[in-house]
Amino acid sequence: MAVAAALPKLREVLRIDLCVVNAENASHGFGLGPDMARDLFAAGADAITLGNHAWDRKELIPYIAETPRLIRPLNFPPGTPGAGSILIELANGRRALVLQAMGRLYLDALDCPFRGTAVELSKYRLGASVAAIVADFHAEASSEKMAYAHSFDGQVSLVVGTHTHCPSADHQILPGGTAFQSDAGMSGDYDSVIGMEKTIAIRRFWTKVPSEKLNPAEGEATVCGLFVVTDDQTGLALRVEPVRQGGRLSPAMPLV
Ligand SMILES: [Fe+2]
Repeated sequence: MAVAAALPKLREVLRIDLCVVNAENASHGFGLGPDMARDLFAAGADAITLGNHAWDRKELIPYIAETPRLIRPLNFPPGTPGAGSILIELANGRRALVLQAMGRLYLDALDCPFRGTAVELSKYRLGASVAAIVADFHAEASSEKMAYAHSFDGQVSLVVGTHTHCPSADHQILPGGTAFQSDAGMSGDYDSVIGMEKTIAIRRFWTKVPSEKLNPAEGEATVCGLFVVTDDQTGLALRVEPVRQGGRLSPAMPLV
């Protein structure tokens, strides 16, 4: 797994205090296996988020119940295994909140991600009870992602979108101090159709016949991420820059 291989060095070079990985597609594009989650935690992930592919690998259902640092969207129906947020104790004794919500445009009809996030955030105060808050908004539509980010601008350190598999160039610090990127992009082979081997994926669009199984593209992966520096007092963002390493996309590495 490219991310597990790259994480230890990235953590060191970028002097990372908190590392969050979205891994719902780690298992050949569909779900996450407990073995892969363990590998990511061992490589340096502090928290792992999921998404619409959360339950593609059924073994994850018992695993998430005993692994609080693995979270799924908080607006999944009541009674869903796992939780939608986790408080992480950082190495320096401070605490960070990581949460995930899932959008509803072109995705499943879930509870409202905006209200669900507001309820969760009402329990914490950035820069007081928690040093940082990371919100992963797993959604398809840029409009919903931007509306979500502006809704919580000033209340969280970062809103980062996941799900579209393409890194967007809109990373910025919003007026209230929240870092934002509408999509962090995938870590995978970009000579593909969102990570899948392109020949079969293209044929599906031309013929509308879902004949053959989609397989992941096996070329060199570009590891994509987002680097954020937060203010020690306020928890708001001071810097936000993309990380791209390896594969076909142009490289980007913050200077630390
Ligand atoms: Fe997704």
